Order: sequence, then C-alpha cells, then structure tokens
Amino acid sequence: MEFTHLIEPALTASVDLIALVVYGDPSKDAQWKAFDAALGGALSAAAKAENFEGKPSQVLTMWSKGPLKAQRVLALGAGARADQKLPSFRDLGAVAGQTAAKLGATSLGFVLPTAGAKLGTTVQLLVEGALLGSYKFARYLTSDDAKKPNPLKSFGIITDAKGKKPLAAEVKHVKAAIERGEAVAKAVAKARDLINEPAAHMTPTQLAHEATEIAKRHPQLSITVLGAKKCEELGMGMFLAVGKGSEQESKLIHITYKPAKKPKKKIALIGKGVTFDSGGYSLKPSNAMEDMKIDMSGAAAVIAAMDAIATLGSEHEIHAIAACCENLVSGRAYKLGDVLTSMDGTTVEINNTDAEGRLTLGDAITYARTKIDPDEMFDFATLTGACMVALGPYTAGVMSDHDRLLKDWMACADATGEDMWRLPLNPRLREQLKSPIADMRNTGDRMGGAITAGLFLKTFAKGTPWVHVDLAGPASVSNGRPHQPKGGTGFAVATIIQYVARS
Ligand code: BES
Ligand code: MN
Ligand code: ZN
Repeated sequence: MEFTHLIEPALTASVDLIALVVYGDPSKDAQWKAFDAALGGALSAAAKAENFEGKPSQVLTMWSKGPLKAQRVLALGAGARADQKLPSFRDLGAVAGQTAAKLGATSLGFVLPTAGAKLGTTVQLLVEGALLGSYKFARYLTSDDAKKPNPLKSFGIITDAKGKKPLAAEVKHVKAAIERGEAVAKAVAKARDLINEPAAHMTPTQLAHEATEIAKRHPQLSITVLGAKKCEELGMGMFLAVGKGSEQESKLIHITYKPAKKPKKKIALIGKGVTFDSGGYSLKPSNAMEDMKIDMSGAAAVIAAMDAIATLGSEHEIHAIAACCENLVSGRAYKLGDVLTSMDGTTVEINNTDAEGRLTLGDAITYARTKIDPDEMFDFATLTGACMVALGPYTAGVMSDHDRLLKDWMACADATGEDMWRLPLNPRLREQLKSPIADMRNTGDRMGGAITAGLFLKTFAKGTPWVHVDLAGPASVSNGRPHQPKGGTGFAVATIIQYVARS
C-alpha cells in the first residue's frame, strides 16, 4: 500500500473511495453538507435510512459515481470532536482501508479533518492504522482466499489548499509523518509475526536469527548473541536455570543502536523472551498453556522496535536485550526447592517454576546494568496473570520508583494510545519474597502478584532508573479491534519508538 498526499478539493478527488470523518450530527458538518448537495441530498437520505449519526464506529457507504468522480463515499463516525482522542485515527485509518479492500477499491482518498499541530500526528496514525488493519498472520493458511493480495494499492491523504499554493512546510510535514507511520507499522507488524509464529519454529535460536536479520539491514545497528556457555561464564544462574529443561539452547540477544553524534543518554530496553512457557514442574493446566507461545512478546517488542529506531534515528544510544529460553519439563529441568545464584550474586529459592520470567529478566537487568551502565532501563514482559486480574486484558501495569522517568514514559504511552496504568511498588509486599534458606524466593502470595514480581526485579535494577512494564494482558488479544486483529498485538512497540526515536 502506497501513501500519497493529495492536495485538492475533496469534492473533485478522483479515487475509487473517498472517506470523510463525521463528528456527530452530520447535518451540522460543512464537509458533509457539500457532499450531500453534490449528490442531490442522497447522502443525508442514506444516513437517515441507515441511522447514521456520526457516532464512533458507525460507518456509511454509498455509490456516488456520476455526480462525483469518486465511485463511492464512505462516512466514518467519530463522535463529538471535543471527545475525540487522536489515537482513534488508527481505527479510522484501519476501517477506511478495510472497507476499501472489501469493496475491491484500488484507491482511497481520506479527507483529513485536522490541521495545524495535530496534522502530522493524525497522518502518522492513519498510516499506522491502514497498515496494521490489513495485517494478517497468513503463513499457515492455504486457501486461495487467504493468499489474495490486498486490492487497495493507494491510500491518499487529502488536504485542500483552497486554490492557494500549498505550503512547502506542510507538504514536508505530511511526508515525514507518512514515513514515521510506515516505520512504526512495519515494526509492530514484525513484532506480531514473531509473536504469532508457533513455538515449534520461534525458538530462542530462531529469534536470534530474526534479530540478526534486522541488525544486518541497518549500518547503525550491531548485534551480539550470547549462547548458554557465554551466559554461564557471566554467572547468569537464574536465566540459565529456566532453559535447562529444553532441548533448545538459551540465547541472550543484544542489539545496539549508535547515533552518529555523541549520544545524549544510554537507554536499555529489556524484553522477556520465553518462547514457550509450560510452567515447568509447576505445570500450567492445558487451557492456560495454550497461548504460551506469546510469552516472548516483550522480546519481540524490543527487537522489532530497533528496526524503526534505526530507520527514524535517535539521539540516544539504545540497547535492546532479549533473554530467550523455553520453560519446559524434562530430566534436566530446574525444580522446586532449587537455589539459584544470579549474575549479581543474589541467591534465590525456587518455590514456583512458573514464575520464570522474573528469573530470566533479573539476570538480563544485571547484564544491562553492569555491561552497559545505562542512564535508564525499561523492561517489557508478559510477567503475571495477576496484572490482568488487576487491570483487565487491555492495560499494561507499569511500575517504577523513579517518578520522573515513569511520568515521561506514561506521557508517551498516552500519546500513542497504548493503555498503561501505574501500579505501586509497595515495599511492604517485599516480605512475601523472604526465604529461610536463600536471599529471597521467586514467588509471593496470590495477593499483589504483579507487584511482588516487580519488587523481585527491582532487586536487580539497584539504583539505576528503571521502569517495569507488565504486558501479560495486552500482548495478545482474543477480541480484536480494527487496527489490532486477534493474536499478538506488538504492544509497547509504538510507545518505545515514541520515547526514543527522533520526532
Ligand atoms: N507467562 C506467565 C504470565 C502470563 C499469564 C502471561 C497469562 C500471559 C498470559 C508467567 O510466566 C507466569 O506463569 N506467571 C505466574 C506467576 C505466578 C506463578 C506467581 C502467573 O501469573 O500465574
Ligand atoms: Mn510462567
Ligand atoms: Zn512466563
């Protein structure tokens, strides 16, 4: 799909489908009235017949060729303008693209309803929505229908210069926003592919291979993959214990982005990469295990985000670190009651082998802290079911003791429309992690399970400014929405890019 900027009056645009955003009552909308007049009142008649009132997620399509150059008009309800949040443009872009595809339209014109400061963001979100709304994990679908290419080839963004010469700055602005939207969507789609791929294929070694392919495409990226032997030399006893039960070798993936100029900050992005979580000897019941190929969504997010970061550039030095392994049962697997020694020397008694993510991340955090000496660290992990109990399936839990860093991160989450909410790292819950035979144990009680996992990780972050994002819920969805079909979502990729990439 190609995105173009069309500078012309919407009424005379020559496209297969022209899309208008309608903010509530259509009869009060100037753009609508112009289209309705050109169509001899047929648009308002259709709206009346089909109860189209411009409410969010309402759509209306009608044939318009003859009076207009466009074959069809698509009206997209958006509710009251004052209530609209910018990220809703992702869904509007997705619905426009999907409607066009369904109708077999090859070209779409989207009349941009925003201007000024919102223009660039709106365009970026539309591009992201159109691309991500057409995302499909079709690798294993064999029917001809599933293999059919999207008929929609051209997505035009229409702004009207009203007969005046278009402003060069605005044209440049739209072009940059299109490129940014394309880079974000490409990274999110890549993360989705990595997540949706079955665990039989998406092993730690395969993830390392995928990361290497991304790093090879950009001169600013370099990559090191540490195998089990190297991790052992570094003393990563917690990380390695989790993968011991698997035939697949554990891999620590480390991608580095270096800016051309002296970096402002060094930022470490750490992802949980459990390519399949059976629970280990604390075995999950079958229904809870069914979707556990998604337990590497944090790793997928940080790896895929590096592609967009390299494309768009950043003034910071960025490190993506993914601790990848499989949590299985076998004669070699780690057991309950084992005491592990972590990379920083802390000893940990295992009272639940299903609380494996914090073990892998604990050592990955120590690796980041000691090998990189970052100014800031973020970790992304499908860490606890408790986080979903607390916040529901669409919202990530965010934990940090560093208020400023947390605030900056949340502002980026807000701007991109990814749902995140702060949970308190209440130190009183630390008590749950006490062990009689080791420095701590890996699991607390049921109460506050997302927070005790956060407190466990905090031990390894020491004083380095650090934010923990538990994305167990939003990493994958069973109820999709237009720009986010069922399956892996690529959650956090957009916010990571917003936080680190140049705008
Ligand atoms: N990978 C799971 C968490 C998870 C659950 C992610 C559902 C996505 C959807 C994690 O490793 C896990 O098993 N956590 C345990 C922790 C418990 C044993 C303290 C959990 O949440 O039950
Ligand atoms: Mn687990
Ligand atoms: Zn897990």
